[in-house]
Amino acid sequence: MERRSFIEMFLAGATGFTSIAKPVKDTHESFSWNKIAKQYPDSRSKLLNLNTGSAGVMPKIVEEQFLNFVSALNRSAPYEKAAIWKELELRAKQELAEMVGADADELALVRNTTEGLNYILTGINIPKNVDVVASQCDYTLALDTLKKLAKEKSFNLKMIDLELPLNREEILAAYKKKITDSTELVLITAMTHREGQIMPVSEISQIAKEHGAKVLVDAAHAIGHFEHSVKNWNCDFYCASLHKWLGGPLGTGMLYVKRDRIVEVRGSYNANQNLLDKMEKFESVGTKSFALNAAVLSAVYFHQSIGTKKKHNRLMDLTDYWTTSINGFPNIKVYKPEEYGGITSFHLPGSSSDILSFFQSKNIHFKKVRAPKAKQTNYRISPNIYHRYKDLDRFIGAMQEYTFGL
Ligand SMILES: Cc1ncc(COP(=O)(O)O)c(C=O)c1O
Repeated sequence: MERRSFIEMFLAGATGFTSIAKPVKDTHESFSWNKIAKQYPDSRSKLLNLNTGSAGVMPKIVEEQFLNFVSALNRSAPYEKAAIWKELELRAKQELAEMVGADADELALVRNTTEGLNYILTGINIPKNVDVVASQCDYTLALDTLKKLAKEKSFNLKMIDLELPLNREEILAAYKKKITDSTELVLITAMTHREGQIMPVSEISQIAKEHGAKVLVDAAHAIGHFEHSVKNWNCDFYCASLHKWLGGPLGTGMLYVKRDRIVEVRGSYNANQNLLDKMEKFESVGTKSFALNAAVLSAVYFHQSIGTKKKHNRLMDLTDYWTTSINGFPNIKVYKPEEYGGITSFHLPGSSSDILSFFQSKNIHFKKVRAPKAKQTNYRISPNIYHRYKDLDRFIGAMQEYTFGL
């Protein structure tokens, strides 16, 4: 089946939505990353965007379908056609559920990871005086929510002092030290945003379970990036961004709650009583753009036509390429974790505004991050599957110019 057919859309009038079809598995006989690159809008752009970890990029075909969905919505009475949009949403959930080893009715489509995390953290019962364990390498907004809640609900927020990258044993030892029988909940970030460390989620989760604690996984960078399953991770709650590595439109995310925990989490405040044991209670938020969730299905299909393993290998190859190339440059320290993908950081001494503006003057963008324990400024490089080695050569060349000129 041609690529056209998996993304082939529906919009033959207001009733034509049903022709969106799952891709037949690509045998990859004619597979090439250059061909993939051509399917992204920004592959020919002058801007070298090495910050795709903050927000991913929709492939052109997904963007096109998304825009078609927006037009279709604008040309119909959306609630009259709700059944069609709901069908696309359901199919998106079924595909996502298969990707992460869940059932579709354990998933809700939400706006992003942050919304999912907030639903869980504010929606479960965290009794007074219990411990909630998190680490300094967890995402800032999750920690902000936890800090506020710890005050409001009088639980103890026990922070793990991690200076990543570390090896698996060191990470497990740090979690083991903090998790006790007083622990109610453990927050685990599957891939950390500053360092790109893939965490040993299953093993940390196992420690938590041995102490009777619940596990919440922040999988913002995991979905569409590396293979995983909520069953193997044995987590109770899981939140992910679909607009990062999966390539969905901005403002798309998902929330998983293990079936027997659904009733324990308060949903949207307005959600109807009959939704108590249903994930729809997290989706009951008034009028939404159906186009967003419909385009998630397009993004999943595009992703499936390549496959998670292949994407992860490609992202590791790109990381290996730039990290190896700049490693010997003067004053550079690269922090590549043992288990990694498309995110890694490096340190370069000097004023961060000088460094960033030097690279920006060359149309190369990346993100400044703060190492929480070392209290030093690092720089995060997060290319995407559409970047080619020659794109990274531009970054490496600029880096050479900057560091050898120091
Ligand atoms: C680890 C991690 N968790 C959560 C988030 C928040 O994601 P979103 O903005 O999609 O809510 C981010 C954003 O970059 C992140 O890196």
